[in-house]
Amino acid sequence: PVVTLKDILSDAFDKRYGVPAINVFNDLTLEAVLAAAVEKSSPLIVQTSVKTVKSIGVDVFYSMWTAMTAGIEVPVALHLDHCPEREVITTCLDRGWNSVLFDASHLPVEENTRQTIEVVAEARRHGAHVEGEIESITGVEDGIGSDTVARRQDLQVALDFLEATQVDVFAPSIGNAHGTYKAAPQLDFQRVSDIVAVHPVPIALHGGSGLSDEQFRDLIDRGCAKVNISTALKETFMKSSLAFLQETAAKDKWDPPSLFRSVRQEAVDMAGSLMELFGSAGRV
Ligand code: 13P
Ligand code: ZN
Ligand code: NA
Repeated sequence: PVVTLKDILSDAFDKRYGVPAINVFNDLTLEAVLAAAVEKSSPLIVQTSVKTVKSIGVDVFYSMWTAMTAGIEVPVALHLDHCPEREVITTCLDRGWNSVLFDASHLPVEENTRQTIEVVAEARRHGAHVEGEIESITGVEDGIGSDTVARRQDLQVALDFLEATQVDVFAPSIGNAHGTYKAAPQLDFQRVSDIVAVHPVPIALHGGSGLSDEQFRDLIDRGCAKVNISTALKETFMKSSLAFLQETAAKDKWDPPSLFRSVRQEAVDMAGSLMELFGSAGRV
């Protein structure tokens, strides 16, 4: 069934497994990640970037979501990823998104806190949840983000933000970055433990693509219950398309449905292996 973000993350946080939060960008990728969740008996968070919401349209995307999740047996939730625009947040909450990441990390933390409190109140009226962020995560996610190294706030600033806003999920900067890592990331594992020790809230691990199995396992163990994956699915989609097209073009075969079948299977397999790795497989 479609459930709230908290339904999914409370169990994952308590039992210390990670749930993939995968950015989809069309009907094929949405269907593929849902199929993987069913195949693996795993909960799943589907995410949309603001860019995806705008390009597909809120109504069309939400219609696909309701059609594809009708009767689904595993818990799934729909989340709006990094959104600095209050109007887009309102539109998505009104339509039925289960949670939003209000990304005001570009604002001074006082103003971010003030506005996040408003977004939390708005979400609560819908029975929806909120992810908060006070430090811009390096790299650009569908046009949102910054290429300059994130300024990490003092631990106390993060704790004060959590206390004041009561966000349901927190996305700290721990040396993680969106996109593929150009150099091996220097991760601040301890920061996750330090936050969770004082304020036990599920942590969102951004910039998942490119981390090692060991890094995932360690961070999930410390409380990263939501593991964001975007670039890896885009890469799977593009590389499997390219490989398929090269092969079929050589044979002068031009059949779109067989391209989609092939790419879909790669996407299902990729999402399924994340569920195994993060420990969400078999939890339903
Ligand atoms: P990657 O693109 O590095 O997987 O990051 C995903 C993410 O954090 C989405 O918010
Ligand atoms: Zn992110
Ligand atoms: Na990454």
